[in-house]
Amino acid sequence: MASSLCISRHPISPRLSNNTTLLRSTNLRTAVRCSLPRPGYVPNHIPDPRYVRVFDTTLRDGEQSPGATMTADEKLHIARQLARQLARLAVDVIEAGFPASSAADFDAVRMIAAEIGSAGADHVPVICALARCNQRDIERAWEAVRVAMKPRIHTFIATSEIHMKYKLKMTPQQVVDKARSMVAYARSLGCHDVEFSPEDAGRSDREFLYMILGEAIRAGATTINIPDTVGYTLPTEFGQLIADIKSNTPGVENVIISTHCQNDLGLSTANTLAGAHAGARQVEVTVNGIGERAGNASLEEVVMALKSRGEQLLDGLYTGINTQHLTMASKMVEEYSGLRIQPHKAIVGANAFAHQSGIHQDGMLKHKNTYEIISPEEIGLVRSNESGIVLGKLSGRHALKAKMLELGYDIDGKELDGLFTRFKTVARNKKGITDNDLIALVSDEIFQSQVVWKLIDIQVTCGTLSLSTATIKLANVNGEEHMACSVGTGPVDAAYKAVDLIVKVPVVLVEYSMNAVAEGIDATATTRVLIRRDDAAASNGVAASRAFSGTGAAMDIVVSSARAYIGALNKMLGFQAPAKSETTNQL
Ligand code: KIV
Repeated sequence: MASSLCISRHPISPRLSNNTTLLRSTNLRTAVRCSLPRPGYVPNHIPDPRYVRVFDTTLRDGEQSPGATMTADEKLHIARQLARQLARLAVDVIEAGFPASSAADFDAVRMIAAEIGSAGADHVPVICALARCNQRDIERAWEAVRVAMKPRIHTFIATSEIHMKYKLKMTPQQVVDKARSMVAYARSLGCHDVEFSPEDAGRSDREFLYMILGEAIRAGATTINIPDTVGYTLPTEFGQLIADIKSNTPGVENVIISTHCQNDLGLSTANTLAGAHAGARQVEVTVNGIGERAGNASLEEVVMALKSRGEQLLDGLYTGINTQHLTMASKMVEEYSGLRIQPHKAIVGANAFAHQSGIHQDGMLKHKNTYEIISPEEIGLVRSNESGIVLGKLSGRHALKAKMLELGYDIDGKELDGLFTRFKTVARNKKGITDNDLIALVSDEIFQSQVVWKLIDIQVTCGTLSLSTATIKLANVNGEEHMACSVGTGPVDAAYKAVDLIVKVPVVLVEYSMNAVAEGIDATATTRVLIRRDDAAASNGVAASRAFSGTGAAMDIVVSSARAYIGALNKMLGFQAPAKSETTNQL
């Protein structure tokens, strides 16, 4: 189902295409193009030459963001919720993971293929799995996605001189042979949709690229993806690269060209748009732009740029994204990954629609278009409250479940019970419960993956007259209660030290941050911490080097902080390092 949003406050493009619908409404709102029907899916062909496929790799490249790694349970849970949200956004392809990298990744990809990639909904996305160019990776990828209605294998090998020589230690000819034989191998397993990526294409020799891409196409690739793996190119350069590939690669007219732009120079969105303008018809993106190092092209930026300017400046290019789900997708990814977006982030940052200066405010009061090029409604920022449910202290479990569904969270069973208890506590103390309160509570409740220690009670004293002290009571898995008290430089420090006295695992607090998720004195405080084990002799080197995040939400900032810390500790204590063979996922 493509988006059906038609009304906007924004200027209309003078060049509307044939099957574009114009709607006009009153109160100064002008019309924009209604989204066109999504063309039917054929792996190597898009019937409408202006349609751009959106390939979301939040669950794969996004998960490679430092600090965003997850435990197995967490991964499965998050993958399910996120993939559902991606399906609501109506992305064309979900790259669900890298099945050969760990059992957890394999299970998550298979679950997404079975649940999100098969039947039911109006729009069923392609489910894609990443694989290096070797038989085991490709078999694992196929095993994980084959149950999907539209399964895809994405295989890659590096093609730049520096990668071939130092990383792969292979000759260019060996790389070509590998690419050709592994694309053919993927096809031979029965997969009709195979994407091939020459890693570090942005720094690869052009003639070599044309040749290896041509060989991959001959071997059966249906999409050729062009990664600017280290985010090195400038927009004109990347656009030219795509144009050159389009003109010089044998067989390219029979496949889809794709972009995959990293953000090392802050140019990933610009490069992606330049690529699309030059002929790419698939864009690889992540929600909030998360990903390896400086991240990837951000889905919301690329999609909204195409939606706002595609008609005028990009030959009518359009996507099938239901942009009203962008805000919720962004919040979900922020919560699940623990990677907070900066307030001035384009499209989804907290300030993206805030007008501070007097001149701007005056302009906005006179006409919204003076300082807004996108209306907040278009990205779902002003919620329509579709269900009409307003939650308060008298609301029941059923209403909470329905409201959470509206927000994009499908929660049942024990998780719903836990959330309901927390919701009732907040509702007793707070007049109006906002969507943001609920999102804060849900992430706190659900992502305490495994409960090793549970917060029972906490009491602090602090202020200028005495040392801060905290007394804390925790229960272990057997329900046995332990109590400790400590002093500290402030109430949170005292509380964390008291927790340490009970848990007795040396930990370094790497990061601590707190946000109020609504305005006013009765705001819910969300805390996020990142911790690391502090003993070199930790059960294995992996646990020692890994950081574990925890979130907490409560109206009391010390309680919120304690919950976050205990959540991170639980994650760390429950962490199972992947087996040796599973950790060789060097991309
Ligand atoms: O950045 C990159 O090169 C990749 C490829 C696997 C597409 O992520």
